[in-house]
Amino acid sequence: MTATLNRPEVGTGRVVWFTGLSGAGKSTLASALHAELVSRGVPVELLDGDAVRENLSKGLGFSREDRDTNVRRIGFVAGLLAKHGVTVLVSAISPYADTRREVLSTLPNPTEVFVDAPLEVVTERDVKGLYLRAMAGEIPHFTGVSDPYEAPETPDLHLRTDQISVEEGVRRLLAHLGYEA
Ligand code: PPS
Repeated sequence: MTATLNRPEVGTGRVVWFTGLSGAGKSTLASALHAELVSRGVPVELLDGDAVRENLSKGLGFSREDRDTNVRRIGFVAGLLAKHGVTVLVSAISPYADTRREVLSTLPNPTEVFVDAPLEVVTERDVKGLYLRAMAGEIPHFTGVSDPYEAPETPDLHLRTDQISVEEGVRRLLAHLGYEA
């Protein structure tokens, strides 16, 4: 893709929130979009679930309460960054619809992206080997297996990662956010 400086609403921050099952492709898409926006000179930051849990949310588990705390913390930091003109890309399962709604409603220019792949597909991919362990009962409260995932009913963007490539996903994201291809 071309490295032009084209960008909408220069100086205005926004938050692009990727939600979906583990292994659906949230981090892959968010990282690819991050690289593309960096190449266009956009001030952009990535708040990735795994990195957040190693730092900001270290010690939290996967109960509803802990997940909600995690999601609210991410939202808090995303809001601070966006206030200063940063485009913030959040990648977190964020499984509870009302918590997502609550947090997104506090953020400037929020975009909810549903990174969607059927459970059979993410189980088959099993990138981190977690589904096999979860299905064997070794990981309690595993999203999609023994814990709920409440899919967004009206996401701003719905990307079926079992049907489109990463490049196509990034193309749709850029178009949705108002950037030229
Ligand atoms: S949440 O629900 O938004 O707080 O989850 P998140 O911070 O995105 O963390 C998800 C990653 O943690 C790993 N992991 C689990 N996921 C779901 N359920 C359980 N019980 C669990 N235990 C560990 C998993 O690698 C998730 O990574 P992703 O990037 O989503 O694949």
